[in-house]
Amino acid sequence: MTANQQRIEQHIESLSRFTATPGKGVTRLTYSEEDLQARNYIKEKMMNYGLRVTEDGFGNIFGKLEGTLPDAPSVIVGSHFDSVPNGGAYDGTAGVVVGLEVAALFKENNMKPAYPLEIIALVEEEGSRFGGGLMGSRGMMGLLTEEDFKKLADRDGILAVDAMADIWVNPANGKKRDPKTMKAFLELHIEQGPILEEKGIQIGVVETIVGLTQLEVTVQGKAGHAGTTPMDRRSDALVSASQIIAALPRLATDEGEGTVITTGRLNVFPNGANVIPDKVVFTVDIRSGKEEHVLNVVRKLEAFIAQQNCHGINTSTEQQLYIAPKELDADIRSLLKEASDKLEIPYCSINSGAGHDAMVFSDFTACGMVFIPSKDGLSHCPEEWSDASHLADGTDIIYETVKRLTEAKRL
Ligand code: GLV
Ligand code: MN
Ligand code: MN
Repeated sequence: MTANQQRIEQHIESLSRFTATPGKGVTRLTYSEEDLQARNYIKEKMMNYGLRVTEDGFGNIFGKLEGTLPDAPSVIVGSHFDSVPNGGAYDGTAGVVVGLEVAALFKENNMKPAYPLEIIALVEEEGSRFGGGLMGSRGMMGLLTEEDFKKLADRDGILAVDAMADIWVNPANGKKRDPKTMKAFLELHIEQGPILEEKGIQIGVVETIVGLTQLEVTVQGKAGHAGTTPMDRRSDALVSASQIIAALPRLATDEGEGTVITTGRLNVFPNGANVIPDKVVFTVDIRSGKEEHVLNVVRKLEAFIAQQNCHGINTSTEQQLYIAPKELDADIRSLLKEASDKLEIPYCSINSGAGHDAMVFSDFTACGMVFIPSKDGLSHCPEEWSDASHLADGTDIIYETVKRLTEAKRL
C-alpha cells in the first residue's frame, strides 16, 4: 500500500481548523489553545497508528515505533506544528502529516523496523511567539539553556513556562536528547518559493539551507506632546527607526548573490496618535546561502545603526538567532533520489531559502529534506497551498527511504 492521498488531505484540513484567526489563515502560536487542539489531534493519530507517544519538556511530541534491535538509534520523520500569524495550512503541518502517514503505512503494511521509527511534531519553529525561531529543535539538542528558556516571554510578558502549564505540558519532562539516540532526520516541507512550480517538477531534494540571523533592534528616544514640541527639539524614536529600516534593503542588494533582509515586526511605544514615540523595537532577518554575506551585512548594519546615536536617540541591537548555512547529508540525499527513481517520480535538486529544524539537527545527525511545490510560490500567508498528490508522492519517497534506513521487514 502506498500513501493515502485522501487521508493526507483530511489531516491537513482538520489541522487547519485549529487557528486563532478562522477565515484569515492559520494562526497557531506555541502553547496556545490552538496548539493544544492540534497537539491532541496529532497525539491521537499517533496512538491510532500504534506509536508510543511522549512529550519532552518543551512540548515537542514524539510517537515511537520500537525496532527489533536493542538500544538502536531512531530514524525520525516530522516537522513543526506552530505557524506564523495569519499563515497557511501547510508550512510545518505538511511535514507532520507526512510523518503520520509514514506511520500509518508502517502499520497497514505490517512493517517491522530494526531501528526504531519516530514521528516528531516540533514547537515554535517560527519564533512567532517567543522570538528567534527553531526553539523546539534547539532546545532538544541542548542549544537553549534551562536558564534562557525560563526567561523566554512573549510580547505580552507571558513566560513560556507559564503558557506551557496552561496547556498541560510538563516542563519537568526530559529536555535534552542524546544525539546518539538519533540515526537520521527526514523532513518534508513545502518549497515556499516558485522554483518547483515553474519547472513543473513535483519533488525537490534539498542540498543546502540558507544561513540566517535574526536581530532585535531597540531605538530609544524621548516621549513628548505631538502638538507642543517644536520639530527641532524632538528625539522621535519612530522617525529614527524608519530611517534605519528604509536603508536596510540597500545593504542586501549591495551584498548581492541573493542576500535578503526583512523587517517583519515593529512595535511602537507608547503607540498613541498624539504622542511622540519614545521607543521602537523592530526585527531584522538577514539570509544568504553564503555565511560571509550574512556576517558582512550584520557588521554594516551594526555600524549604520550606531551612527544614529545622536540628538537624544540611543540604539541597541540584540542577536536572537544565528545559524550558518547547512549542507544536508549526501548519503540521505542519494537515498531520497534513489527512492524517487524507483517510484518513477521526477525530482530535481534545490536549495532552501527558508530556515528549518533540519538545519539544527544536521549538526548532530544525518538529515534530509524533500520539498514539494507551493502554488504561486506563496507561503507565510493564508493563500499558501500545495497539491495533496504531491504530498502523497513526497510521502512515498520518504516511506521508501525510511524503510531502508530502519531496515524494516514485512511481518
Ligand atoms: C521559517 O519559516 C523561516 O524560514 O523563518
Ligand atoms: Mn515558516
Ligand atoms: Mn516551516
